[in-house]
Amino acid sequence: MKKIAVLASGGDAPGMNAAIRAVTRAARFHGAGVWGVWDGFSGLVDHRIEELTSRGVAGIMQRGGSIIGAGRSEEFFDEACRVGCVSYLRGEGIEGLIVIGGNGSLQGAAKLHELGMPTVVVPSSIDNDIGGTEICIGVDTAINTAVEAIDRLRDTASSHQRAMIVEVMGRNSGYIAVMSGIATGAEMIITPERPVGLDEIFEQMRLGGEHGKRHFIIVLAEGATWPATELARQVDDAPNPFDARYTVLGYIQRGGSPSRFDRILATRMGVAATEALLDGRSGVMVAWRNNRCELLDVDDLPPLSDPWDGSLERVHEITAT
Ligand code: F6P
Repeated sequence: MKKIAVLASGGDAPGMNAAIRAVTRAARFHGAGVWGVWDGFSGLVDHRIEELTSRGVAGIMQRGGSIIGAGRSEEFFDEACRVGCVSYLRGEGIEGLIVIGGNGSLQGAAKLHELGMPTVVVPSSIDNDIGGTEICIGVDTAINTAVEAIDRLRDTASSHQRAMIVEVMGRNSGYIAVMSGIATGAEMIITPERPVGLDEIFEQMRLGGEHGKRHFIIVLAEGATWPATELARQVDDAPNPFDARYTVLGYIQRGGSPSRFDRILATRMGVAATEALLDGRSGVMVAWRNNRCELLDVDDLPPLSDPWDGSLERVHEITAT
């Protein structure tokens, strides 16, 4: 292959730029040119591509977001549109594509692979909701951001003896909630994977009050039973020992400079994906497993594991008392 393209699709994640840099430099190291596609699959639909050079991707490792944009495309769901994208790429002499993104991006990449366009995926989503890879690009930074925010919220909750409900992102996954909750010693962590009832929440609060706790931190995943606003209202409507306040961390978790871990992960995954594509692989995703990159078939990814798996649930039960 002499010419490949790279795009960042779905929600942006810290570390995407490090992956774009690694793809560009790995391709050029192996004698291939690289074109960046603007704004995810929509740049393919609208024919917006631009050559990336080794110097052009200098100094982007530490930057959040994506220098070539990121996004979701409604039009790309249409088969005829995808066929048009493949002929556009071929017309430009582009022989393969690297897709950096999450679940939706995986599906888009699989469709291009079916149409005969060699495609390799680099998993990137702060939600950590892709089966087969232990971690995706952006997760570590998003958790660090949530941890910093929750530490601050605990300070003020403690001063005022309040229950603080902190809603974190994750779509249908509780990964950010579980990890940031454990790392901050949160009293409760509520996720879509393990729903809890109000009775249980109130009982834990009662026990917290009895144990002399001065705050009660609930880390609530966005995909759980209630949004933070509603849970705060329910807490205040019942005779609980703590008044409730809530904070929705939202997009703060998606931005910012990537952590050391995300920079290295993205760099390793970007190189692995490019070398796989240049080696003639297609329809595969680079997965992080047992401390190394592996290639998995996109059509056959293992199921997602529950973030509470392993000993975490017990660890939390013991340490949150
Ligand atoms: O997938 C990452 C994510 O930030 C989710 O946590 C969240 O539900 C969603 O994207 C928000 O997407 P959008 O950028 O379309 O508002």
